[in-house]
Amino acid sequence: MANLVISGGRRLIGDLQISGAKNAALPIIAASLLTAKEVQLSNVPSLEDTRVMTELIKSVGAKTEIEGNTMYIMANNLYDGGVPEGLARKIRCSIHMIGALLPRLGKIEVPLPGGDDLGMRKIDLHIKGLTALGATVNTSNQSISAQANRLIGADIVLSFPSVGATENIILAASLAMGITTIRNAAKEPEIIDMANFLNSMGAMIEDAGSELIKITGVDKLGGTKYTIMSDRINTGTYMVAAAITHGEVFLKNSNSVYLSAVIERLREAGIQIEETIEGIWVKATNGFQPLDITTEVYPGFPTDMQPLITPLLAIANGRSTVKETIWEQRFEHIPQLTKMGADINMKGDTAIITGVKNLNGARVMATDIRAGAALVIAGLAAKGETVIQDIYHIDRGYERIEEMLRSVGACIYRN
Ligand code: UD1
Repeated sequence: MANLVISGGRRLIGDLQISGAKNAALPIIAASLLTAKEVQLSNVPSLEDTRVMTELIKSVGAKTEIEGNTMYIMANNLYDGGVPEGLARKIRCSIHMIGALLPRLGKIEVPLPGGDDLGMRKIDLHIKGLTALGATVNTSNQSISAQANRLIGADIVLSFPSVGATENIILAASLAMGITTIRNAAKEPEIIDMANFLNSMGAMIEDAGSELIKITGVDKLGGTKYTIMSDRINTGTYMVAAAITHGEVFLKNSNSVYLSAVIERLREAGIQIEETIEGIWVKATNGFQPLDITTEVYPGFPTDMQPLITPLLAIANGRSTVKETIWEQRFEHIPQLTKMGADINMKGDTAIITGVKNLNGARVMATDIRAGAALVIAGLAAKGETVIQDIYHIDRGYERIEEMLRSVGACIYRN
């Protein structure tokens, strides 16, 4: 299996084009199953996870065509033909098939979803939401099945603002009879993108992005042409990559509005950031100041950015702390960074990071998407050569990462 090999210490200088957001594209591809008319999606990131999601919708009869980053989906002839377990287990978003297919087929069975191993990836809120809409939901060790003649709008209160559960309920409620409200809904920008997509097909979703979302069910949805939002986590990744090499990079097709919490903290660390309509400009000249970070639901500091900022804090001038509150096992990158010379101690849900002068190249392993990208960032700054194994995790979330980084001066290749 291929590795990524990085010779660290080169400044990144130049322009990078940010791709479409994975975490918006996956639910939107699933959401395309709600209409029998043609959907055209632009800015679809070319990733392993989008390929898996595409195969998943094909397994229930959708027809797809892909030209570059444009995808055409036609779901006029759907069937519950058995969603392949191997595919469903690869990504978390396979569970969105339930919300999208239940209104169309009346019943659907999906193998239990997979995705990054970040601790208990519970689905109780998905089940609670779908049940409230009138579905009969059954789970086994293997799969989740749901059945409903006609879903009926309901008032749903989430005990935690889960991104996935909020999306799944919106999907099912879009074609339900009557009004659904979701209280304590997740506010992540990718939910707004999915709601905008559905509204462009004739859905009636109000206030997505707030903690009270209202969905008025419609009888059917039409076709649409829609452009997927740019990827805020990939933007954050390349911001930290540029900074850690003391580089100067302009990120085209990026949107700073959804990155306020990250930009604020990076500025505190001493990084220069300019937000423009065309994109975000990042420059770092001096050493980095330590930070105390706590992950939170949007608009707080995103859990997905937590592993990515850690290499920067590992070489900051002093002691930083990173507290993870969303996922209980999101510290798999720590032992790998320690191999590279980072001084990090774990205390419960908090990593205590004492800045060292520099990181050193080492042989390390990617354990999930963001942990893998964190090692790329560390390798760009480290002295000597870093070899990253199990890079299929990185390919799940980053389009041509080594080509992107080479184009701004990094020495990184796949072998
Ligand atoms: C999405 C993102 C992921 C990000 C996460 C949090 C996608 C494809 N993935 O994941 O990158 O890290 O949001 O911003 O968009 N929970 C429950 N019961 C449930 C569902 C979730 O207790 O039914 C808990 C989880 O265990 C976890 C927390 O809620 O502790 C966050 O999960 P959720 O917001 O659902 O994340 P995902 O949608 O899986």
